[in-house]
Amino acid sequence: MIKTEHLTKRYGRLTAVDDLSFEVVPGEVLGFLGPNGAGKTTTMRMLTGFITPTSGRAWIYGHDVESDPIAARTCIGYLPEGAPAYGEMTARAFLEFIADLRGLRGAVRRARLDTVIQRLELAPVLQQSIETLSKGFRRRVGLAQAIVHDPAVLILDEPTDGLDPNQKHEVRTLINEMSRGKIIVISTHILEEVDAVCTRAMVIARGRLVADDTPAGLAARSRYHNAVSLQLERPEQLAVAREAVAALPQVAAVEVDERGGKLTALPAGGAAILGPISDRIAQAGVHVVALRVEPGRLDEVFRTLTHL
Ligand SMILES: Nc1ncnc2c1ncn2[C@@H]1O[C@H](COP(=O)(O)OP(=O)(O)O)[C@@H](O)[C@H]1O
Ligand SMILES: [Mg+2]
Repeated sequence: MIKTEHLTKRYGRLTAVDDLSFEVVPGEVLGFLGPNGAGKTTTMRMLTGFITPTSGRAWIYGHDVESDPIAARTCIGYLPEGAPAYGEMTARAFLEFIADLRGLRGAVRRARLDTVIQRLELAPVLQQSIETLSKGFRRRVGLAQAIVHDPAVLILDEPTDGLDPNQKHEVRTLINEMSRGKIIVISTHILEEVDAVCTRAMVIARGRLVADDTPAGLAARSRYHNAVSLQLERPEQLAVAREAVAALPQVAAVEVDERGGKLTALPAGGAAILGPISDRIAQAGVHVVALRVEPGRLDEVFRTLTHL
């Protein structure tokens, strides 16, 4: 597993990572969430041994990243931010180079290269230089180099950043496929990513841990948790609907979207309010075309948690 104790990194007077202690176990896909500058990349660089902590410690499967860096790094596959690679190398030459660095030899080397090339569907671009590849393929080459030695731990720094929606989906699917039995840590500032791939999310703001929860647990902190949205058939009924819903004691507030002909009722104390609302709406003669219970809004929770 991964374990850190009081992990801290200072740059002069700036504390980039401030006293982080956590553990991650196999099977977990941990999302590192935080605004730009929160300390995500710095934390990942310490875990991967690229920079040394100012204080505190980190272990990868029992190997101290500072005193036993080679053993620690052997367990890790790392996709750095922006997935840098040697642009003038062909995709194949680059992957072979990384396989050599990882100490793979002979039949094992061939088999691992074949496996990652197949898994990331790189066959059509193997002879192309990396700088001529599309962003999506370049990211796949980055992922391939991270997993070529079949590491137990994958650390991916903003793996979908800058990709188009289809490519994002592709990368998330790959991460889901790779996650079985492994530890995956991915950093992101994209909230939908948390729902799409993570089993757990740590929110970091200004270097400090401000939340550590499941995606559903985070969403449940939202004031929209269990809120009920109604799409009206006739927008002119909005006023009537609002009045009817607002009169319920279980409803704390009602938000109206005039243009969309939509109304959202926020529950008092997070209680379930679907039943009373649908009854009341029917009594009031309001026609509803869609009705939805919200899990909660991650963007709102994120803003609240990371607000400076
Ligand atoms: N080498 C460095 N020297 C000085 N400050 C740095 C250095 N690396 C990162 N920082 C600062 O540390 C903070 C955290 O940065 P970073 O870990 O890259 O954040 P994130 O990845 O969450 O966007 C930022 O304020 C950044 O400017
Ligand atoms: Mg970063």
